[in-house]
Amino acid sequence: MDKRQAAAHLEYYGELGVAGWSLDREWRRRAGGPEPTQDGEIAAGGSMEADPADGTPVGGEGVVSLEAVQTELGECTRCKLSGLGRQRVVFGVGNPDAELMFVGEAPGRDEDAQGIPFVGRAGQLLNKIIESIGQSRESVYIANVIKCRPPQNRNPEPDEVATCEPFLFGQVDAIQPRVIVALGAFAARTLTRTDTPISRMRGREFEYRGAMLVPTFHPAYLLRNPGSKREVWEDMKKVRALLESNA
Ligand code: URA
Repeated sequence: MDKRQAAAHLEYYGELGVAGWSLDREWRRRAGGPEPTQDGEIAAGGSMEADPADGTPVGGEGVVSLEAVQTELGECTRCKLSGLGRQRVVFGVGNPDAELMFVGEAPGRDEDAQGIPFVGRAGQLLNKIIESIGQSRESVYIANVIKCRPPQNRNPEPDEVATCEPFLFGQVDAIQPRVIVALGAFAARTLTRTDTPISRMRGREFEYRGAMLVPTFHPAYLLRNPGSKREVWEDMKKVRALLESNA
């Protein structure tokens, strides 16, 4: 984890009201953070820091749980998308302990109607892509950078990304996948913080929040450009190999 990622991580936990550092050793190692105090205390903070019932951090090991991230997001009205016709927040779907996570751009009409990511035509194709490497929608986790549908499916705007991305970071940190597939230019650029075209990013791997990030084409792009399925298959073979290495 580099300094920028550590800062984003801290900003996210700060937003949740967590003033201290996680007790989880792996989290601290990745964040380059301090050891906990001798009695293992984390500084007092917001309601997500500890389970009031027994005082253990939510998630058991000191890492904020996926449930806690979803609760914090709630029926979010933090950005203008909440007033621009979206029906509901689309948090994410799948296995909270997934080794493989897919990140798309934002919900479309079908996703907004059902509250589940990738259920429309692009989602049907994503299902086939997932199944092509022996996985299923139940074994992986699927989320978007933006949790609310932009009007007319326009591109998400920078203030919307800035408001929403801490929740994606929270999802990644709660799930701790080994491999993340960024679907399309928007997800890949947001996650890598670059303006590099997806055509130049795909075929490469990046380290990201303790996982390997593999950018590939968005399934909606593949519906318009079926000739690019071959490259996505190459990317998925790499994903499978990464999952099989040191499994
Ligand atoms: N496109 C996306 O990027 N995400 C969805 O959930 C659906 C379509």
